[in-house]
Amino acid sequence: MNRTNQENAVSVKALEKRFGSFVAVNKISLDVKRGEIFGFLGPNGAGKSTTIRMLCGILTPDGGSGTVGGLDVCTQSEEIKRNIGYMSQKFSLYEDLTVEENIDFYSGIYQIPAHKKRERKEWAISMAGLEKHRHTRTGFLAGGWKQRLSLGCAILHEPPALFLDEPTSGVDPISRRRFWDLISDLARNNITIFVTTHYMDEAEYCDRIALIYRGEMIALGAPRTLKTEQSGNHFFEVTCRNPMAAVEAVQDLPGVKEAAVFGTTFHLATDSPATADRVLGLLRQQGFSEAAMEKVAPTLEDVFVSLIEDYDRSHQAQIEVSQ
Ligand SMILES: Nc1ncnc2c1ncn2[C@@H]1O[C@H](COP(=O)(O)OP(=O)(O)O)[C@@H](O)[C@H]1O
Ligand SMILES: [Mg+2]
Repeated sequence: MNRTNQENAVSVKALEKRFGSFVAVNKISLDVKRGEIFGFLGPNGAGKSTTIRMLCGILTPDGGSGTVGGLDVCTQSEEIKRNIGYMSQKFSLYEDLTVEENIDFYSGIYQIPAHKKRERKEWAISMAGLEKHRHTRTGFLAGGWKQRLSLGCAILHEPPALFLDEPTSGVDPISRRRFWDLISDLARNNITIFVTTHYMDEAEYCDRIALIYRGEMIALGAPRTLKTEQSGNHFFEVTCRNPMAAVEAVQDLPGVKEAAVFGTTFHLATDSPATADRVLGLLRQQGFSEAAMEKVAPTLEDVFVSLIEDYDRSHQAQIEVSQ
């Protein structure tokens, strides 16, 4: 095994998936290190599930190449499936089986050796906090418990890498927090985590995140780096009366990337500090004489919204040129 494979749990280049003429995943390249929590963020339909399915050996890529745990994503899908943990968007538990019966079922699927079955079952039950519910039918469990049981089942065979597709959607905030604590524990034990989400706050739990939009990766980096460097935009909070009217007055000015009402103020993203000064001057001329502006550190959501708007603008421009 070469050095790259030992260091990277996932390494793919120009990965592509088409459905007919529609390109769902467009030449995505990424490396994920052992023990890293790698977040894959993007709106619905961006291509997150399709990418994760290619990494898990469920879908065959139409282009590109790569490895997961040193195994080839194009030719060794069966080996990959046995060597990873995967939790799909809909947790695949049997609702009419009890908690223990679900675990026993997955023990069978993953061919856990007989002498380890008991220990792994107890581990999964205690990790999920289900000691009092081992004989409860799964269908009666609340969402957070089902989710943790599902996680336990996905890692019964102690895989070195775990792929989670929107594991927290539809789960209450406290359970989400608890779930992320479990994920952090796993990563501390050197398990690689590849997780998709559309919750921006969850991105903060990741070591690195990739933003995917319309099948393309449009940003990649640590959350803090993305906030400070990636977008190249400058962010301001503007205080004035009637922020809605103010947004309308400035949103189409050159250099304005984004203007959106935010409570009693509005948030502004510009291509440069000079543009922001011009916006403030113009507002004051147009009757917002008391308008005041403060530079702010962007949230990840601010950064992603402006990156997506940049993407849409440049692609719209390309369409107009080609027409
Ligand atoms: N089996 C399929 N056949 C046709 N189109 C598909 C199929 N699976 C996904 N798609 C399309 O590919 C795009 C990306 O889907 P998906 O990867 O599920 O996005 P996400 O998980 O980010 O919401 C969507 O437009 C979806 O409709
Ligand atoms: Mg999905």
